[in-house]
Amino acid sequence: MKATAKAPANIAFIKYWGKRDEILRLPVNNSVSMNLSDIFTTTTVEFLKNIKKDEIRINNETLSVKEKERIVEHLNRVRAVADIKDYARVVTQNNFPKGTGIASSASGFAALTLAAVSAAGLGLDEKAVSILARQGSGSACRSVPDGFVEWEAGNCSEDSFSFSIFPQTWWNLRDIVVLISKKSKRVSSSEGHSLTESSPFYKTRIQGMSDKIKDLKDALKNKDFGKFGLITETEALNMHAVMMTSTPPIFYWLPKTLELMLLTRKWREEQLPVYFTIDAGSSIHLICEGKSEKRVTKNLKDNGFDNFVINKPSRGTHLVDEHLF
Ligand code: PMV
Repeated sequence: MKATAKAPANIAFIKYWGKRDEILRLPVNNSVSMNLSDIFTTTTVEFLKNIKKDEIRINNETLSVKEKERIVEHLNRVRAVADIKDYARVVTQNNFPKGTGIASSASGFAALTLAAVSAAGLGLDEKAVSILARQGSGSACRSVPDGFVEWEAGNCSEDSFSFSIFPQTWWNLRDIVVLISKKSKRVSSSEGHSLTESSPFYKTRIQGMSDKIKDLKDALKNKDFGKFGLITETEALNMHAVMMTSTPPIFYWLPKTLELMLLTRKWREEQLPVYFTIDAGSSIHLICEGKSEKRVTKNLKDNGFDNFVINKPSRGTHLVDEHLF
């Protein structure tokens, strides 16, 4: 059977940075995110009797050995659950080409998981798909449910999964992803996660986490944008402080990243409610309400930041009828 899934990327307001279990990808803390409407991956999978190894194609690009191994490992997880031995043909399309500064292992592994379990004939529920996706890439488990999502850190593999806390229609937010550099990051997030404990600020960050999550969820519930934006921005700075003080330190920001961070704060002083968050890369995510979108994009263009993608909250990973082969 052939199956095709479409999965959104997601942006975390409360970040996942640090693992309790490297192999199972169990996080240290819960995280909270929103799925993105305009950055996504589509993947078709078919298990076939007549092929001698997994055949994997992503955007017609050449994959590194490491990239290929990670996908084969994930297919092995699905084969183990389904108790099948057949190799798979996998074709994937990202709506963003490689080398754009957008990399999404989250959308990639979420789409691969749902397409593969469906192609293998497994009728798994959303929780089970999220648990499997998490083992491919941690943040991928947050791309599975709809809209605004929380990833419960859990104590073991079976209770570390994501669920929707509000549907995509809950709040008309925007995540305007501003591309700063086309170069891929030098330190992968997998590598970065393993360095977190070497930062002297790591423990302090974790201690304040449950209060911060509660406050963010309250702000989300009450649609209190000022409070929501401030927690989101402070949280990103907090995570980057841990990154920069790890041994060895990791610097994801480029000069243009900092320039836009400072501009965002200046725009706020000019009564434009917009906040930033940043993942493990140089791109900036500008968070605002729908009514502020035009002013934010005008400001971006006026300051020479022309390369951006406007996202609304979106549904999670789902099957689609059009196959890629
Ligand atoms: O899922 P990973 O291993 O790519 O880690 C994601 C890490 C951050 O993007 C920096 C934070 C997050 O919660 O998405």
